[in-house]
Amino acid sequence: MTSERILVLHGPNLNLLGRREPGIYGFTTLPEIDAMLTREAERLEVVVTSQQSNSEGELVSAIQAAWGRECGIVINAAAYTHTSVAIRDALAASQLPTVEVHLSNIYRRESFRQHSYIAPIAIGQISGFGADSYWLGLQALVRHLRQPTTEASEA
Ligand code: DQA
Repeated sequence: MTSERILVLHGPNLNLLGRREPGIYGFTTLPEIDAMLTREAERLEVVVTSQQSNSEGELVSAIQAAWGRECGIVINAAAYTHTSVAIRDALAASQLPTVEVHLSNIYRRESFRQHSYIAPIAIGQISGFGADSYWLGLQALVRHLRQPTTEASEA
């Protein structure tokens, strides 16, 4: 069996994790999150590639580059979650199953964070578990990719 390939995208300011508002985002750094995802990927027998960008255009290009190469996407679009039609459109166009993740519980925060442009086109959203949101998001995506199709399970 060839391993499923999964792209993990981190949006703006997530390169500052560990130093950035630790009361909200915790002390875990982005390299530590990526290392944890790599370990979990080995256990799940998938291949994870992680990418961080502060630029909306670069995130759109990364999603476009994933077409035909990756099996799914785990994305924390950070502030672009609440503003970016371009990232949502790229994800929708890719037709890749996408899990949206957030370290903080965006529904317990300011009202402007409580709307996500990505949620309606994602298979699901995990929000509020700190660094574990990524870990849970990866597991959820892999389970989704491996579950029998509705047709097959109904047959
Ligand atoms: C975030 C929540 C966003 O509202 C915020 O802009 C971020 C991080 C989170 O992971 O909790 O940068 O996506």
